[in-house]
Amino acid sequence: MYILGMESSCDETSASVVEMGEGVRRICSNVVASQIDVHRLYGGVVPEIASRAHIEAVSRITREALDGAGITLKDLGAIAVTTHPGLIGALLVGVNFAKSLAFANDIPLISVNHIHGHIAAAYLTDPTLEPPFLAVVVSGGHTCLYLVEDHTTFTLLGGTRDDAAGEAFDKVGREIGLPYPGGAAMDKLATEGDPKAYKLPSCAITSDEIAFSFSGLKTAALNLLNTAKQKGEEIDRANLAASLTASVVDGIVKKTGLALSTTAASAKTLVLAGGVAANSHLRAALADLAKKRRIPFVVPERGLCGDNGAMIAAAGYYDYLAGHRADTSLNASALDDED
Ligand code: KG4
Ligand code: ZN
Repeated sequence: MYILGMESSCDETSASVVEMGEGVRRICSNVVASQIDVHRLYGGVVPEIASRAHIEAVSRITREALDGAGITLKDLGAIAVTTHPGLIGALLVGVNFAKSLAFANDIPLISVNHIHGHIAAAYLTDPTLEPPFLAVVVSGGHTCLYLVEDHTTFTLLGGTRDDAAGEAFDKVGREIGLPYPGGAAMDKLATEGDPKAYKLPSCAITSDEIAFSFSGLKTAALNLLNTAKQKGEEIDRANLAASLTASVVDGIVKKTGLALSTTAASAKTLVLAGGVAANSHLRAALADLAKKRRIPFVVPERGLCGDNGAMIAAAGYYDYLAGHRADTSLNASALDDED
C-alpha cells in the first residue's frame, strides 16, 4: 500500500510517499524543504519562524511528493504524521494539514512518534530488518536506547538526563565558528584532529545505568574555549572537534555495549538512527562494536538519518497494521509523553 508520511517537528518540512507491504519497502518520493538557511542567521532554530516556514511549504511539498511518486490522493492507503515530540507550533502545522487531508478524502490517519520514525528509517535501508533489535537514537533533541520488541513495541532502556548529543555538537560548533547546525562540519573537522589532545569528561554516566549527560561535556568544551580566550591562547579547532567527538562516541559505545549485554537474549541486531547517525566516527565505532558482538549492524543511509517524511510513513505503516487510527481529535504534543 502507498502511505503519505508528513514531518514538521523541527526545521524540516517533509512529505514522502512510501510503498510498504509483504516483502516491499520502497521510497517512491521523499521531498524535504529545509529551513536551515533561515535559522542559520540566528545560530539556532527560532520556533515562530519554523512554524511559519512549515505553513508556507506544506501544501507545495505534499503536491511534489504525490507527483514525484506518480500517484494521486485516491491511491493512498493511509496518511502518517509526526505528532510528538517536537516544537509544538511546528508540529501543529503538519498535524492539522494531515488531519484535513485525511478527513476530506476519507483516508485513514495515523499518529507517529518522531523517535519511532527515526528508528523506522532502518527498515527502508535494510529490507530484511525485523525486530527484536536494539536501537540507538541520537539526534539534535534525543539520545536514547530502545529495545524494539516488535514493530510497535518500544522499551526505553535509558537516555540522556539533560542535553542531546547533537546539541553538544551544535553548541560547541557555534563557539568555534561553524555555521548552524555544526554537527556535519564537526564530523569533518574531527577527522583532521587528535582525539587525545584535550581531556574532556565522558557523556556516559559513571554507574551501571544506561544513562548519559551531555551538559557537563558541553560546558567543559566551552570552558576550555573561554579560558584559552582569556589567556590569549589559541585552541586547535580540529583537536577540540576530535576530542569532543571521542567523548561522545566512546560514551555511546560504552552504554550500547552494556545495553547489548543486558538484552542479549532478545536484541539480535544493532540499529543506529537519528540525525547524529550521519556521524562517520559514530557509525564506524558502533559497526565495530556490532562486529565484536557478532551481530548485524544497520544504519540508514545519510539522507535518511535527518528528519524526513519517508521514515514517518514507514513507522506509520506498522501502526496501521497494528490497527492504530487517529480521528479528528488528534493533537500534537511537545513532549514524548505518549506512544
Ligand atoms: O534528527 P535530526 O535531523 O533532528 C532532530 O530530531 O533533532 O538531527 C539533527 C542533528 C543536529 O544536531 C545536527 O548537527 C546533527 O543531527 N548532525 C550531525 C551530523 N549530521 C547531522 N552530528 C554529527 N555528525 C554529523 N555528520
Ligand atoms: Zn529528528
